[in-house]
Amino acid sequence: MKKKAEKRKIRIAIDGPGGAGKSTVAREVAKRRGFIYVDTGALYRGVGLFAARAGLAMDDADGVVALLPDVRIDFVPDGDRGKMLLCGEDVGDAIRTPEASLYASAVSKIPAVREHLLGLQKEFAEKGGVVMDGRDIGTVIIPDAEFKLFLTASPETRAKRRFLELEQKGTPQPYDEVLADIIKRDREDSEREIAPLRPADDAVVFMNDEYGLEETIVKVLEMIDEAVEKYGREA
Ligand code: DC
Repeated sequence: MKKKAEKRKIRIAIDGPGGAGKSTVAREVAKRRGFIYVDTGALYRGVGLFAARAGLAMDDADGVVALLPDVRIDFVPDGDRGKMLLCGEDVGDAIRTPEASLYASAVSKIPAVREHLLGLQKEFAEKGGVVMDGRDIGTVIIPDAEFKLFLTASPETRAKRRFLELEQKGTPQPYDEVLADIIKRDREDSEREIAPLRPADDAVVFMNDEYGLEETIVKVLEMIDEAVEKYGREA
């Protein structure tokens, strides 16, 4: 009984670069273990989409900051399928286009944007029973998370996966472009001054180049089960 109650409070942080399979793994793990999944990248994508729709240039940080008071982002948790609402609108696939990805990465460098999205993320972390994925979950949002994973793979492996995904979705993009976007985003995410992408000191780093999706999920589930078990013992 106690174990069940403790499991409800556990906080799992999954960070890593784009294209490592973080979101799919986090969502699947949440589904199979009954946690709430919070996709924090979607929040930055929402701000990026807002900026793009307002016609701002990607590097117009002052313009983005001026818009922020109008950007209302809500996250409606629903098990492994949470919904992100941008000013009440379910923006669904609009935040997943290659252009939205680049805008998301650009706005995520702006301190005021990170600040704007901090409270919402902390709120979910505090509730517990969550799997949150992003870039700074283990380092900034939940530095005391019960389990931290840094999921990564080489840029080429990630580009190949993304290339196939875009092809399957019917929105193909040349491989070289996909790889260039990934390298650009990696650089932006890890070289920015605020909350740069890096594994927390106590994160488990998992390079999954040699693993398929299901194999990755199974391995991550093993780690999480162990963390839940340990958490239950120590509680
Ligand atoms: O995980 P994603 O690709 O959906 O994230 C989109 C962008 O948002 C990514 O380029 C970096 C940024 N991001 C961030 O800075 N911090 C997070 N916790 C999540 C995403």
